[in-house]
Amino acid sequence: MKAIILAAGDGERLAPITQTLPKALLPIGSETVLSRQIRQLAAIGVTEIILVIGYEGEAIRAHVATADLPCSLSFVENRDFMTTSTACSAWLAAEKVRGQAFYLLDGDVVARDDVFAAFGAAAGNALFYEPKSISSPEEMKVAVQGEAVFLHKKIDNARSLGEFVGVARFSAEAGESFFAALANRRNGYYEEALNDIAAEHVFSLHEVEPDAWIEIDFVTDYLQAVRLFAEKREAAAPAISEQVLLCPGPVMVSKKVKSALLHADIGHRETEFIEILTRCRAKLNKAFGAQGNEYTNVIITGSGTSANEALLSSYGPGRKLLFLSNGEFGDRLADLARCHGLTFRLLEFGWTNSIDLAKVEQEIAGGGYDALMMVHHETSTGMLNPISEVGALLAKHGVDFLVDSVSSLGAERLSVEEAKITFCTASANKALASLPGLAFVCGKRTAFEALKGRKAHTRYLDLYRHYEFEELRFQTPNTPAVSLFYALETALDELLHDTLEQRMCHYGQLSSLIRGRLRELGMMFPIREEEMSRVLTTVFYPEGLDVEGFHDWVKQHNYVIYRGKGPLLGRAFQIANIGHVREEHVRSFLDLMERGLERSRTGSRGRAAAAAAATL
Ligand SMILES: Cc1ncc(COP(=O)(O)O)c(C=O)c1O
Repeated sequence: MKAIILAAGDGERLAPITQTLPKALLPIGSETVLSRQIRQLAAIGVTEIILVIGYEGEAIRAHVATADLPCSLSFVENRDFMTTSTACSAWLAAEKVRGQAFYLLDGDVVARDDVFAAFGAAAGNALFYEPKSISSPEEMKVAVQGEAVFLHKKIDNARSLGEFVGVARFSAEAGESFFAALANRRNGYYEEALNDIAAEHVFSLHEVEPDAWIEIDFVTDYLQAVRLFAEKREAAAPAISEQVLLCPGPVMVSKKVKSALLHADIGHRETEFIEILTRCRAKLNKAFGAQGNEYTNVIITGSGTSANEALLSSYGPGRKLLFLSNGEFGDRLADLARCHGLTFRLLEFGWTNSIDLAKVEQEIAGGGYDALMMVHHETSTGMLNPISEVGALLAKHGVDFLVDSVSSLGAERLSVEEAKITFCTASANKALASLPGLAFVCGKRTAFEALKGRKAHTRYLDLYRHYEFEELRFQTPNTPAVSLFYALETALDELLHDTLEQRMCHYGQLSSLIRGRLRELGMMFPIREEEMSRVLTTVFYPEGLDVEGFHDWVKQHNYVIYRGKGPLLGRAFQIANIGHVREEHVRSFLDLMERGLERSRTGSRGRAAAAAAATL
């Protein structure tokens, strides 16, 4: 049996660590990616390997020349590797395998030995894939229609079965048709030629487990490959976290978002930064649901609180404000106002209680307020507050509307236009699924302009100054966290590509899974399910639970959940499904949680859910 390995690409996205080293020669413990593939292919009976090289081909030749090879090896050179892709590389190898069955393998795939054993056990035409839901537009997805198997990056998420692992087995007949199809489309990926022959040749599909393989596209993939597959893990693997974050921020982000940090160094007063700032602001406006030109936004280097503080310390002085609160983050708004000596009233509804619109209207009607500020998604309880209704009410009374959407932007339906919002704040590291360190204030242009000449209580967070710099000079007033803008733009691209609708649907499915299982276990929620956001579930601990023991046990298994705050401390915990959380994460967490609850039932430190609910 023969195998073709495609190793011609330049692995551009790995340049920060590889410099000029081709991907195939990256070390995984004591082996390179290539020597590992050769060993594993020989172990499943491959006697001849055809290696398609291009980028740094000489280095690859030199590497194998010194190796003790377990099978014979020949080279095919793709001289146009810079302008072509895998279709051309595969086509160039055609003559070497004509008339025989063969394997075709991407040169950047690292997998466990047992995965290769499964390749060896397959017969006829076979394709390998990992069943999973995919949000990144980078991955090659698999779909079936009747008996035909299709591969494409653009397959609809609803149709996708998972990710193609980059290994195929061809019978001699299918190989013949495949090369004929490649001859017509030498500029793309070889997977497209597989689609061309899908109706004619049936390929069996074989599942590969998560973490049993990895394709090294990005630096993070390489680190993961070393962690998973190098023999001397401790020595070889950089110590990076393997935790699954099921807390409401910071959240897990996609590989692409992390990799975006590895951009070229740029000066923040140069065209390159002007460009990225301008693109981020334009995309951010879309995320805030601003279609027209009425709204604009500023990006501040800081956490979500910096956006709230910029807004309140700039807009608030000399005005009368009303805050609504039904949890920690509503209270924090009033705390900021207190800190800046603002004139305000705090209308408290009590943690876990919903906002009473009649009371709000009554207060607004007689209160002489300039503005009302509230939290959209009260993260401390997971309750989604009715901003559209409040917005409509305020519009009637001519009162400005300020909204903290720090934990809802990107997860819940929110349009500054529709909700008639004057200013809306948010941050990068929650449902936008980017990294912490950037916060935003989106507002009506007229409202930003009206800040001119007013005395802000802070300098660094003076909102008009940010507006003036970003809107009129296309720069930031001070040194921004430049790299985070690259991560933000990537995260915004992913959101706009997926669409908010799809994200809402994905988050809704995950939270339904979580809530369904909690209900099955007889656990109780402090708020009604209809009032919950789709990204966060707050649930009472069952009666008689060693609360800290449970939390530690979950953490030891690398899942991070959140302890309740304020009146929920010690009584409830929170499970978030925000950011780059996949269904596998949620399902394995729920199984783990069930075992954790079982073993932590001591009766000593927990509280009765009903008693807890009664005292809230
Ligand atoms: C609704 C809400 N507002 C404000 C904040 C404060 O954000 P940060 O901790 O990023 O300053 C949070 C944080 O969780 C939040 O959930």
